[in-house]
Amino acid sequence: MGVQEQYPFDVEAVRADFPILDRKVGGDPESPGEGPGDDTPLVYLDSAATSHTPDPVVDAIADYYRSYNANVHRGIHQLSQEASVAYEEAHDTVADFIGASGREEIVFTKNTTEAMNLVAYAWGLEELGPGDNVVLSQMEHHASLVTWQQIGKRTGADVRFIEVTDEGRLDMEHAAECIDDDTQMVSVVHVSNTLGTINPIAELADLAHDHDAYVFADGAQSVPTRPVDVEDLGVDFLAFSGHKMCGPTGIGALYGREEILESMQPYLYGGDMIRRVSFEDSTWEDLPWKFEAGTPSIAQGIAFAAAIEYIEEIGMENVRAHEDLLAEYAYDELDALGGVEIYGPPGDDRGGLVAFNVEGVHAHDLSSILNDYGVAIRAGDHCTQPLHDELGVAASARASFYLYNTTEEVDALVDAVGEARDLFA
Ligand SMILES: Cc1ncc(COP(=O)(O)O)c(C=O)c1O
Repeated sequence: MGVQEQYPFDVEAVRADFPILDRKVGGDPESPGEGPGDDTPLVYLDSAATSHTPDPVVDAIADYYRSYNANVHRGIHQLSQEASVAYEEAHDTVADFIGASGREEIVFTKNTTEAMNLVAYAWGLEELGPGDNVVLSQMEHHASLVTWQQIGKRTGADVRFIEVTDEGRLDMEHAAECIDDDTQMVSVVHVSNTLGTINPIAELADLAHDHDAYVFADGAQSVPTRPVDVEDLGVDFLAFSGHKMCGPTGIGALYGREEILESMQPYLYGGDMIRRVSFEDSTWEDLPWKFEAGTPSIAQGIAFAAAIEYIEEIGMENVRAHEDLLAEYAYDELDALGGVEIYGPPGDDRGGLVAFNVEGVHAHDLSSILNDYGVAIRAGDHCTQPLHDELGVAASARASFYLYNTTEEVDALVDAVGEARDLFA
């Protein structure tokens, strides 16, 4: 059976929902490096940075602005009520999607980064102090690493990093050494955006809970690409971004266990998050609104729910199977090319992305040449500078896949990488 015949769903039918995939880009492969053009079919392999948005989600945004644009929670009039119901129900959709018990546990944020800062400021600044520690891993995205590092500096708490093995996995023996009775928070990325490693979050949660520490999973790369259930993972917090899962930018979610969110002070103060205000003092709205001060991203929140409905229609098990198939195929083909160093675990045990370097070619040059072939990948440190230091490289190229990508697109990537390697040989 050919690789394409193993697709778990009709990928061509899905692609039809993404008109942007029909775009032409790139330059002239005959004279690489001479700048942008518009004659090459787009091969978009950068969904780990941001995914594309299907027509039903674009329609949900347009429908809001065309039919019921109004502020939420503030008006008695019909438009405001319609907008409020749709925005509030979007929280229910997100809660169901990740197995949370209800909307009380889902705070809409701008993105994963803001969700992490919310917990770091509202919980970390209050609760952490000298003698405490927060445990991260060496493969954290800057969204988590920089946030906890700076909160550590402000509170005097120690920040520890679980080491990564040569194969790109978490060293679980080291994890057990790092997590002790002074640990207050274990914050680890679920699927690494650089190594593709799928981390054993449930195991870490058990370790953390044995020491009465909280667990925060960074789900930016996992929630869009595989079934994620907060109960199964045993996490206390989970963060993810709408724009990496067919939704718009400007919206993300923080899941927090209700009793912990209840016990936390607000992160932002202002309208919408209060119940009663006097000149002397204020009281707070119920969850999750206590954490959603000011006018929220209403259209984006509603469209976030539409995006979840879209990917649920395909089925998260199917999305995962498709990601697995493309990741393994890309890994094997790039590996077979020669002169390519791939980072992270083997192809049959990783999330849907492959970061690599080509011998003698800087990742930025590679990306620029690939652009001439219409192939969009990411080049740089992918917001994991310390991990790149550990790998001994300043930058890498990263191809990442989503539900609309095909094996033909992986072939286009591999062909273009081969051309680039030969050009610099
Ligand atoms: C693992 C991981 N964590 C956090 C983030 C930050 O996401 P956002 O920029 O949407 O806040 C990203 C984005 O690339 C990511 O890959």
